[in-house]
Amino acid sequence: MFIRITNLPDKSMKVLFIGGTGNISTSVSKLAVSRGIELYLLNRGRQSSPIPGTNTIIADITKPDEVSAALKGHTWDVVVNWIAYVEEEITRDFELFYNRTKQYIFISSASVYQKPLLSPVITESTPLKNPFWQYSRNKIACELRLNRYYRERDFPVTIVRPSHTYDTIIPVTIGGGHEYTAIDRMKKGKKIIVHGDGSSLWSLTHSEDFAKGFTGLLGHHGAIGHSFHITSDEVLTWDQIHHIIADAAGCTADIVHISSDLLALYDEELRGSLLGDKSMSVIFDNSKIKQFVPGFTATIPFTEGIRRTLARFEADPARQQVNQSTNEWIDFVIDQYEKAYPLEKES
Ligand SMILES: NC(=O)c1ccc[n+]([C@@H]2O[C@H](COP(=O)([O-])OP(=O)(O)OC[C@H]3O[C@@H](n4cnc5c(N)ncnc54)[C@H](OP(=O)(O)O)[C@@H]3O)[C@@H](O)[C@H]2O)c1
Repeated sequence: MFIRITNLPDKSMKVLFIGGTGNISTSVSKLAVSRGIELYLLNRGRQSSPIPGTNTIIADITKPDEVSAALKGHTWDVVVNWIAYVEEEITRDFELFYNRTKQYIFISSASVYQKPLLSPVITESTPLKNPFWQYSRNKIACELRLNRYYRERDFPVTIVRPSHTYDTIIPVTIGGGHEYTAIDRMKKGKKIIVHGDGSSLWSLTHSEDFAKGFTGLLGHHGAIGHSFHITSDEVLTWDQIHHIIADAAGCTADIVHISSDLLALYDEELRGSLLGDKSMSVIFDNSKIKQFVPGFTATIPFTEGIRRTLARFEADPARQQVNQSTNEWIDFVIDQYEKAYPLEKES
């Protein structure tokens, strides 16, 4: 049970996003501007078109002198770092923003939650532990350091843990992300790999839905010292996810199920993202964000969200990047698997 602490957003808030033009943060930037927030985006300016209504500060966050010069004289109502991954970056941010911001929001990851999970239902109180993925352990270390800064130095920290959130990425593990490989294979009638038996439960959140919850935390005094995840309440199996994507792409999904353990043996990189994340059945309990941001609910079903994502890829052939080495890897793994287990072919 949480006490409802309503937030009256101060429309004149001055907010800094480090990043702000990425897969998740672009939607948040757009919504924040539409709500009257004075928004500054610090990035290297590599995106082709700036987000209307934002003020861009061109700097590389890894270059301290450049950043100090660019931020000189500014104070902030909120600073959000979208692109901090290791503890040293938190130490740097503390030095940059201590006494210069009324709220500091760290973008963590829902992959920090206990693996293997003891319960599929995840709340913000689920323990943080991930022996499978260094990325998640680094995010946990960032969170722990920020909690210390909050307790010992009054640094006004809020932690937000996105789970799998999409807009400009294709949300599948093998051949997705910024790649178009999985879609290209489906369109050509080639087999694709789905981990496990395709029945584990997962949630995919469109960035515009995430943005609705997230902007409610900006300048929210009650959110200081708290952690939140923000996800859709829609729960899908991985088979459903692939079939919905195929349907949106106008084709069918020819799925080969291969265990996550085996896939992780074929590619060490998958140990983290599968065993430490996507192979688990998860059901996110979003009660906390709904308590703190009254009215928040995700409204974009995956059937609709993925159509928007695919339309964006289809609008520009340059975005349809098919990775030949991913293709060869998928063909190799399926070939090995079917040679080892030929029963399906014979029946
Ligand atoms: N998507 C998911 O499913 C998911 C799940 C869990 C957690 N997360 C977390 O979400 C965050 C990513 O958010 P996002 O998707 O919006 O970001 P993103 O797509 O990774 O975008 C990166 C942003 O950072 C800027 N940037 C990159 N390197 C920079 C540098 N050296 N100096 C200054 N700016 C730099 C980029 O602009 P320029 O290139 O112009 O500099 C861009 O604005 C990460 O912390 C990740 O761990 C994501």
